[in-house]
Amino acid sequence: SNTFSSFLNGQKFITLKSISSTNDYLKEELSKSAPFSEGTVIMAEEQFGGRGQSGNKWLSESGKNLTFSILLKPSFLNPIQQFNINIVICVAIYEALYPLLGEELAIKWPNDIYVGDRKLGGILIENILQGNEWRESVVGIGINVNQEDFSGLKNACSIKELLHREYILTDLLYDLCKSIEKCYFQLKNQGIADLQLVYKKALYGLNEVRKFNLEGVSVEGKIIDVADDGQLIVDFNGHSARFNFKEIEFVF
Ligand code: BTN
Repeated sequence: SNTFSSFLNGQKFITLKSISSTNDYLKEELSKSAPFSEGTVIMAEEQFGGRGQSGNKWLSESGKNLTFSILLKPSFLNPIQQFNINIVICVAIYEALYPLLGEELAIKWPNDIYVGDRKLGGILIENILQGNEWRESVVGIGINVNQEDFSGLKNACSIKELLHREYILTDLLYDLCKSIEKCYFQLKNQGIADLQLVYKKALYGLNEVRKFNLEGVSVEGKIIDVADDGQLIVDFNGHSARFNFKEIEFVF
């Protein structure tokens, strides 16, 4: 049985026991012209080479968490609108998990899922462009669900740690995929505006004076907005500046 067959009309839902990385698997298959339709979901019970943003590893205990990738084909977007996909995915995860986790849930710019000051999940989007044309987006999502031991990972958390009960991974996956489908169609049919509002409302640290690390220098500032292209806009005593990913980070 395939409960996901209607997701974005994707024909495939593939579960792999152990794989290097679901993103790598999907990209490799696509490079060999695998006929994967939009909405194809690759889920792994275990990843031994899970990847995060900026070359980080994504560690996840075998069988405990959600590690999956979804194929999108956002050919209706211009490559300069790439950040819209980040927004769609963040908002979709936020809305799917909000009934469980409530007010403490937040989106940490550009695309981490936080509860309070701890990281619950991350997203790694890899776009496949051909010349000026945007062909495919491999959207990798890792959500900590039932893992309890995060020794070595200083600010990670899981749903089980927060809610003291186990969750069935495929049930959560289904809710997440439905939410992604909904938000993706919202982008397609109504544009980005409303999704952008939810993204900003959920933004971790918005309008709070916080310490940031700017190339090794610690400074106080206040996130005031996120630009359409995804740059973070931070105010320092009345002077605002824009940052790309990796140019600025919170000091916890
Ligand atoms: C981050 O927070 O840095 C992003 C983490 C993304 C992890 C997911 S797990 C499924 C997919 N496969 C990978 O190798 N990475 C993403």
